[in-house]
Amino acid sequence: MSTNPKGIQWYFPPGIGTQSVYRAEVSEFADAMIFLKYHEWGEWMKVVEVREDDFRAVRDLFLDVFSAEPWNDEWKSDEEVSRYLGELTQNSNSLSLKLVDDTGSIVAASLGYVFSWWQGKEYFIKEFFVSRDSQGQGYGSTFLELMSNYLLERGIKAIWLITDRDFPAYRFYIKNGFTEAEDLVFFQKTLEKR
Ligand SMILES: CC(C)(COP(=O)(O)OP(=O)(O)OC[C@H]1O[C@@H](n2cnc3c(N)ncnc32)[C@H](O)[C@@H]1OP(=O)(O)O)[C@@H](O)C(=O)NCCC(=O)NCCS
Repeated sequence: MSTNPKGIQWYFPPGIGTQSVYRAEVSEFADAMIFLKYHEWGEWMKVVEVREDDFRAVRDLFLDVFSAEPWNDEWKSDEEVSRYLGELTQNSNSLSLKLVDDTGSIVAASLGYVFSWWQGKEYFIKEFFVSRDSQGQGYGSTFLELMSNYLLERGIKAIWLITDRDFPAYRFYIKNGFTEAEDLVFFQKTLEKR
């Protein structure tokens, strides 16, 4: 680790340092905190918050991923999906993160809410997705690893999410250390007029 006079700290890549996730603390940008990981394909990946001007790119990525197999979501219009993503990203407790490569392209995104539960702050992920041409190459796992550091830094100690047991994402979460909450069930009821 080295610290320069501006307070920028770097933890160096494998072979030099001992950890796989590096933290750059850039004090000149107030609380800007960037977590970086040297991806095995030779790119520096980082996790940062989604900005307002990323909205369209995140929406297009979301639509592209979830309109395809295995989810096959059927959003009927841009307006409909924009409304949903607006509800998800514009609340006071919304936390929307993106994984970007060193060209600035968004490779993955995580959209959810932070709740201040009595046992500590928790991040509920509502949507988590990797661009279709980047899936299966370790980016989702890198994202979760970097995100965990980011969340811990902000005092968030747990992630909650729901997925479909029969879809590939289930194995992805198990592989990345998630466990099923065995004492909880996810109820639903479709409402009908009687
Ligand atoms: C699920 C998802 C987030 C995983 O990210 P990823 O970058 O593809 O996954 P990684 O490369 O880090 O990890 C690979 C593991 O994830 C699982 N996996 C899930 N979807 C996969 C896919 N499309 N391609 C390859 N592996 C996938 C496999 O278990 C794989 O492990 P294995 O190679 O040992 O079989 C990503 O594939 C995705 O966005 N899928 C579509 C949207 C989705 O399902 N989101 C989650 C909804 S809750």
